[in-house]
Amino acid sequence: MKYKELIAKMTLEEKASLMSGKDFWQTQDIKRLGINSMFLADGPHGIRKQAAAADHLGLNASIPATCFPTAATVANSWNVELGEKMGEYLGEEAVAQGVNVLLGPGINMKRNPLAGRNFEYFSEDPYLAGKLAAGMIRGIQSHGISACVKHFAVNNQEERRMAIDTIVDERTLREIYLTAFEIAIDEGKTKTVMSAYNMLNGAYTNENTHLMREILRNEWKYEGVVVTDWGGSNDRVAGLIAGNELEMPTTAGETNEEIIQAIKTGKIKEEVLDENVDRLLDLIFTTEEALLEPHKEIDKEKHHRMAQTVAEESIVLLKNEDKILPIQKGKKVAIVGEFAKEARYQGAGSSIVNPTKLDSTLECVKECGFETIGFEAGFDRYGKKSQKSIDVACALAKRADVVLIYIGLDEVTEAEGLDRQTMQISENQIELLNALYQVNKNIVAILSAGAAVEMPWINKVKGLVHGYLSGQAGAKAILRVLSGDVNPSGKLAESYPIRYEDTPSYYQFPGKEVSVEYREGPYIGYRYYDTANVDVLFPFGYGLSYTKFEYSDIQVAKDAVTFKLTNTGGMAGSEIAQLYVGCKSTNIFRPKKELKGFTKVFLNPGASKTVSIPFDNKTFRYFNVKTNSWEIESADYEILIGSSSTDIRLVDVIAMEGTEAPLPYVKAKLPSYYSGKANNVSLEEFENLLGSKVPESKWDRTKPLGYNDTIAQCQYAKGGAARFAFKLIHFSHWFLRKIGKRSTANLIMMSIYHMPFRGVSRMTGGVINMPMLDGILMMVNGQFLKGLRHVLKERRKKMEGEKSKTTMVQAAKEM
Ligand code: BGC
Repeated sequence: MKYKELIAKMTLEEKASLMSGKDFWQTQDIKRLGINSMFLADGPHGIRKQAAAADHLGLNASIPATCFPTAATVANSWNVELGEKMGEYLGEEAVAQGVNVLLGPGINMKRNPLAGRNFEYFSEDPYLAGKLAAGMIRGIQSHGISACVKHFAVNNQEERRMAIDTIVDERTLREIYLTAFEIAIDEGKTKTVMSAYNMLNGAYTNENTHLMREILRNEWKYEGVVVTDWGGSNDRVAGLIAGNELEMPTTAGETNEEIIQAIKTGKIKEEVLDENVDRLLDLIFTTEEALLEPHKEIDKEKHHRMAQTVAEESIVLLKNEDKILPIQKGKKVAIVGEFAKEARYQGAGSSIVNPTKLDSTLECVKECGFETIGFEAGFDRYGKKSQKSIDVACALAKRADVVLIYIGLDEVTEAEGLDRQTMQISENQIELLNALYQVNKNIVAILSAGAAVEMPWINKVKGLVHGYLSGQAGAKAILRVLSGDVNPSGKLAESYPIRYEDTPSYYQFPGKEVSVEYREGPYIGYRYYDTANVDVLFPFGYGLSYTKFEYSDIQVAKDAVTFKLTNTGGMAGSEIAQLYVGCKSTNIFRPKKELKGFTKVFLNPGASKTVSIPFDNKTFRYFNVKTNSWEIESADYEILIGSSSTDIRLVDVIAMEGTEAPLPYVKAKLPSYYSGKANNVSLEEFENLLGSKVPESKWDRTKPLGYNDTIAQCQYAKGGAARFAFKLIHFSHWFLRKIGKRSTANLIMMSIYHMPFRGVSRMTGGVINMPMLDGILMMVNGQFLKGLRHVLKERRKKMEGEKSKTTMVQAAKEM
């Protein structure tokens, strides 16, 4: 242990006090020993440091900071160096605001297009997400503070996010859901990891010894700190045993006491606590050094320009019929769409940043060289229909050479705590687009959304530019792509299915009661579409440019693939070349091909470059559930170089000698996985993959409700008052939506409906302690009066305890 001597000077109470927050954002200090508090702040695409009222829902304002494009956007740049640069800027701002730990990046897999936090995550591919996250972490931590990669792990839905049990087989877990974390830890060297709210195969992630001890600590040799997600601690002692140093936010000492009691009664050894304290002290001491200097003001303009650069590299050109883009000088342009006035540039929830400034299309359009003839909102941002708005927009569009229409999802639809209901954009936008098409065929749509949307309207537009959620400078970045000042070079980091029904997790998303079963196994995103031969609208890795690239001269060596790229078009630009590997043996089921490397190359017109993509320890590996380790199968492997996952330009084959591990599967028992058609796997076959029985996925409606049941389950409670409370909550949600207060309605879902009872205590900073919660549960379970008496008694006890604590502190001060 690094801080053995210091730890020896601490009392048991002091050590335990470090294991949970002092308040919502800060850790506990011990002044007499020179141990200061750390400040943790969201993240991930800007600093959300709250100076006054604190919350994790995006309600109260934070100190202004640069709002960079969200992870889903940056991922489209496929540029690790750019991500690292952005990380450096984020780190600088964190230091300027006195933040020790920046709560990002978020690297969960985009398993399903409707998952509410997709906009905060990079990709459906773990290799791409891991590489980009590692770069960002290196950038943030180059300032001496800590990044915090989150949410570890398999946190892929918002429905019941604090209680849901994710059932996933070991191989899929390793290959799909953990690989990005593995890269972030190995190559990014993150100093902090945030555990996820959910359970993984029956145990809360922060208590899950397989995840936290066997994989994170023993296999990956992680020596940093694990912090719970806010309010995500269930059994504090079990968490400590698994190596979860810090619980956030404060529990007013309640869970510290549980640790103390566990040590006093011999349930755990004091050394377990000491080890956790040691790692936490290291984080405190190493990050506070970075904050010793007086805080420098950041250069806001420079940071704004950086946000613009990141956006420019991340915008994806999806369609360009008749070369409608770039828009020729002198064309009369009509601008339509609410989002042109007020940009749609980030998502809602804990990641919300209060930007230092915000570009708007209408303000930037002239300076970007466009000749505009006017603007019409054309639709209501939150979906209200209006024929009049459509009519005036059409009248404007009639007079234009080109119509730019700004459409997409609104910020209430893409929010933390809530999955989307459909993959469509709102109907009023589609109706507007259809009407515009009747009066003008030269339409370019600019799309803002942090995840895939369905596009039944695609044939109505000639040009389609996807800006994703491009941050505070995104509006200008998009205009520069439209004008041709910037040649688009972004490519999709996720697949766009034609219809939601095509998605591999369609039948298994979201889990609505006890659990969610990942029956599709490793077949998420392109891994499924590609292997099962399902057509998509836009494939993974797809994106157009204003120039053209040619691929030639592939050469495969033992440790790398080399090829030539030539810009054969008329404009300078960058190409993202992608390396996919496909195993030719059919002994072990696999996706047809998987991303194993990529490079982004800038080329002037006519220029060529020979580029190399190295192989690494992930290129040929698969996880073998029999040997419980990574293995290589002896086989021929296709080395595929593509401009997207479906546009493969060069192919070669390499024979690899494997590790000769025993075959892990009986083919006949896993037909869907061997065929890749894994979107509707039977329970029996999933159990064959899992190697065990699937736990009951439905609630036992006869059982009394406990700490980890959610408030939504009050609908089945024995207590009439609880059922009434549920009806009230349900009604308020319905009513608020009906009167158009969708963001308040969302808050009900996010902070009440899906909250487990234990959260009532964990999220109120001890205002309601666990013994009081026991009383509440009695009331819920039909013992109203007994429960009420219990609550009042425990409340009295708590207040007396607090009073005597204050008197003791007072007395100590007076001595
Ligand atoms: C979110 C985390 C966030 C934390 C603190 C939680 O609800 O899941 O991503 O960092 O709140 O705001």
